[in-house]
Amino acid sequence: MRIVSGKPALNDSEEFLVDSDLRPKHLAEFIGQEKVKDNLKIGIAAAQKRHDPVDHIILYGPPGLGKTTLAYIIAAEMGVSIKVSSGPAIERPGDLAAILTNLHEGDVLFIDEIHRLSHTVEEKLYPAIEDFVFDIFLGKGPGARSLRLNLPRFTLIGATTRLALLSPPLRDRFGATYHLDFYDKSAIQAILERSSAILKVVVEKEGLIQIAERARGTPRVANRLLKRVRDYAQVMANGVVTKEIALEGLSKLEIDSVGLDSVDHRVLHTIIDKFDGGPVGLDTIAASIGEDADTIMDVYEPYLLQLSFLERTPRGRVATKLAYEHLELPYEKEVQPGLWNRRQD
Ligand SMILES: Nc1ncnc2c1ncn2[C@@H]1O[C@H](COP(=O)(O)OP(=O)(O)OP(=O)(O)O)[C@@H](O)[C@H]1O
Ligand SMILES: [Mg+2]
Repeated sequence: MRIVSGKPALNDSEEFLVDSDLRPKHLAEFIGQEKVKDNLKIGIAAAQKRHDPVDHIILYGPPGLGKTTLAYIIAAEMGVSIKVSSGPAIERPGDLAAILTNLHEGDVLFIDEIHRLSHTVEEKLYPAIEDFVFDIFLGKGPGARSLRLNLPRFTLIGATTRLALLSPPLRDRFGATYHLDFYDKSAIQAILERSSAILKVVVEKEGLIQIAERARGTPRVANRLLKRVRDYAQVMANGVVTKEIALEGLSKLEIDSVGLDSVDHRVLHTIIDKFDGGPVGLDTIAASIGEDADTIMDVYEPYLLQLSFLERTPRGRVATKLAYEHLELPYEKEVQPGLWNRRQD
């Protein structure tokens, strides 16, 4: 299986089972993202004091960083139920009405990929989250009537990998927007320690460090690498993940020393080999490696930007000197691409 930071394949039931075991259930178990956690703690405590639902929240950031996990945690901390849906699944206003009228006072409604809600559904959501009402229109023409349904007060939690695609009127109706960023190495190590205890895998510190190095600052990737290395250790050794076993196991997965896989390599090589380092548009890159532009933007690009291997400029993507160095290619440009672009501005 190719290691990407995207969602697990739907038929991969083993991954799903273990994923739910590994998913932290309470805020105290949720490692890292300290600022987000501090703000959430205050929001939750204040809401509990007032006997109100928590304010509507947007969670945004790259895949696998814990948006869904946090939505479940917020519901658990508030002691309420969570109903889960997603932008593309709510096709018509009637679908939304069915979801909203099934909520109970204080419940959390989690809408994943909220940027993919249709315009008509989105407009119906405004009064629902602002005033907890839903207007139904009956009939057409002069005889048309409208019926106003009162909804229980609930908390909407929207998750998105693309905050920019959320329309401003929708964004403005949320009480808080939290950005989840990539985790630092020590947080990923702590997550791996917790996961290895749950999975009952013995991992030596040095082995753990090797996995953390390649986890792309992403808990989902860290857990997945841990499971693959565990498999390797069980089959090829006595089950203990030493540094050597970790390195051997990881080398089989075709990921390099900083966690880049073959798609990342193809993106960088396309920019460098075919377009002289850029700038080149995302669609051109996508077409030339045969990947979907949205997948590159959501799954691959954020980590390449984080590593400063890629720069986004008004004229397209540019591979940086660091990317050339990582790929051990000669860098022959006189000025840094970033400086060059700034001068053009
Ligand atoms: N802070 C954390 N501590 C420990 N484990 C975590 C943490 N955040 C995420 N995880 C683990 O990573 C997995 C992926 O997290 P989650 O599904 O919440 O990501 P997501 O942001 O919703 O991703 P997507 O955008 O793909 O929906 C979880 O199953 C959980 O096991
Ligand atoms: Mg999710």
